[in-house]
Amino acid sequence: MGKQFKRTLITTALPYANGPVHIGHLAGVYLPADIYARYLRLKGQETLMIGGSDEHGVPITLLARKEGLQPQDIVDRYHSIIKKTFADFGITFDIYSRTTSSIHYETASEFFRILYDKGTFIEKISEQYYDDEARQFLADRYITGRCPHCGNERAYGDQCEACGTSLSPTDLINPRSTISGSAPVMKETKHWYLPLDRYAPFLKQWILEEHTEWKPNVYGQCKSWLDMGLQPRAVSRDLDWGIPLPVDGAEGKVLYVWFDAPIGYISNTKELCPDTWETWWKDPETKIIHFIGKDNIVFHCIVFPAMLKAEGTYNLPENVPANEFLNLEGDKISTSKNWAVWLHEYLSDLPGKQDVLRYVLTANAPETKDNDFTWKDFQARNNNELVAILGNFVNRALVLTEKYFHGIVPSPSVLGDFDRTTLRALTCVRDEMERLLDTFHFRDALREAMSLARTGNKYLAESEPWKLAATDPARVATVMHIALQITANLTIAFAPFLPGSMTRLGQMLNLSPQAWNRLGSVDLLPPGHALGRAELLFEKIEDECIQAQIQKLSDRKKANEAADYHPKPIRETIRIDDFDKLDIRTGTVLECIKVPKADKLLQFRIDDGLTRRTILSGVAQHYRPEELTGKQVCFVANLAPRKLKGILSEGMILYAEDADGRLVVVTPETLVRPGSEVK
Ligand code: MF3
Ligand code: ZN
Repeated sequence: MGKQFKRTLITTALPYANGPVHIGHLAGVYLPADIYARYLRLKGQETLMIGGSDEHGVPITLLARKEGLQPQDIVDRYHSIIKKTFADFGITFDIYSRTTSSIHYETASEFFRILYDKGTFIEKISEQYYDDEARQFLADRYITGRCPHCGNERAYGDQCEACGTSLSPTDLINPRSTISGSAPVMKETKHWYLPLDRYAPFLKQWILEEHTEWKPNVYGQCKSWLDMGLQPRAVSRDLDWGIPLPVDGAEGKVLYVWFDAPIGYISNTKELCPDTWETWWKDPETKIIHFIGKDNIVFHCIVFPAMLKAEGTYNLPENVPANEFLNLEGDKISTSKNWAVWLHEYLSDLPGKQDVLRYVLTANAPETKDNDFTWKDFQARNNNELVAILGNFVNRALVLTEKYFHGIVPSPSVLGDFDRTTLRALTCVRDEMERLLDTFHFRDALREAMSLARTGNKYLAESEPWKLAATDPARVATVMHIALQITANLTIAFAPFLPGSMTRLGQMLNLSPQAWNRLGSVDLLPPGHALGRAELLFEKIEDECIQAQIQKLSDRKKANEAADYHPKPIRETIRIDDFDKLDIRTGTVLECIKVPKADKLLQFRIDDGLTRRTILSGVAQHYRPEELTGKQVCFVANLAPRKLKGILSEGMILYAEDADGRLVVVTPETLVRPGSEVK
């Protein structure tokens, strides 16, 4: 702690190239990393930011199989989409490469080989499911069967998605290979294990003693892993997609994706700096910071450091500021379930609004706990903060200067108390922001920048230069001079967060990008300096735009539910006389009305051929009363009457329940006499 470093290597979790990237990726990893990198660069510090796609692993092979393509086709497709999306959002990677690059194959194989030669690994033979027809071992995800907990017939070997339980393949009832459909058999296979348990004393010392400054969510997760006790972890897999194990007797085996992927950080640094990469990884004066999401903590704080320690020549990360998760409108974001705001779609729906999303995701970043993204909050933050505070202030500063001083920065005269307190706020911002940025509190740092804009807004509103133009031009000059200095400072304070907008603001001010240490200066725009042309920095987002996004999500949710729908298993067999007990009849709806103070119930008056009866049904959310009046329905006629909301219901109307839970009334195909038996 408190150690001084010469340079910083920033790594960002390599996203799996099995889908595009969404707001959760941006909020959790790439925005904080980019803000940090931009901040360090503005401070003039030597900085590298490394990124790339993670192109191995079972989900990619499954997707390829599903689409009838090769894994390479899948990763080529998503790697280029992801890479472009990051560039579009202004994520300033020094390199964005991929784990299928040849330099990565070499680097990862060599790394494995070094550990292998040192005798680091344990070799173990175990039994695993094997597909005899396809002649291959089956990853957990390649096996499906019945869930022992809920009966779902399509549970996977690692998890049942119906009830959420984690499974192991041997838990499945009636397991099947998804490759050939045959029943898998148990077969022996050899794997290489990293004996994490041996590194536990070192990890405990290094994390629990020497890195007490890590974020509580990260430190806490590490502590609980270490307290539970570490087990050896297999670093090889039986799979035909990945980096072949570079040892004899390991045909058909590849490196486990979580072994090769973090080495990707090293490979990508090598690719970028073939001659100096070791400075970035081995010089003790380089600080390594891993930006990741919380599901990656164990790999970056425990497994990868153990690998680096075993290798022996690398630095360990100085910090791992992992974030929690961002949810979307109350539900967990999921690539496979298409529950996400995809960044490339955002850009085509809201073109040019990268900074708005950068702002909202940082202001609401899941730094200490899971957070929720909602479109309403997005709109409110844009309209009430970006437009009403930041945009409004800088626009007034520019437009009033144009109006009163032809766009030339005026000279201040005597300062009053209010001017001085305002300027004092300006001089405190840098220290405060640095303290926050240095400790990865990006949302608070952003709030600090916004509070400077708020100060400016308040300053103009209370000074009311527009009322003094005729009577006190010297005072107007002072006010505008100060307002413009604040505006110029905003281009620095917001530069790491809203890079596109701050470049534009810089152009409006005719001010070149300023170094970070100029933040707090009161002479960024000297008297006589000519400003550029004022434009609006942000614009209001209307309800229709937000409504369209909400509609898009709700359509998607419906489509998902329908796709996910598995009819319930058929109930136990009954005999014909069980069925005969039911007296189902047709009837005509004479009248249908809402039941007062019950939002689900409709009250029917039915002609059943013999007499008239009242029936209550819980369908008010599916039908309006007038839609059913006059219709023929089927109902259970001999159900014991019961009272609901004080009304006696004599029977039960039949409905079919659709995949999304919608109820649809069952009606005879042509008109029949009321009272006809249904049998
Ligand atoms: N692909 C992983 C994920 O999306 C992250 C890999 S990070 C690395 O969860 F360190 F392995 F590269
Ligand atoms: Zn289940």
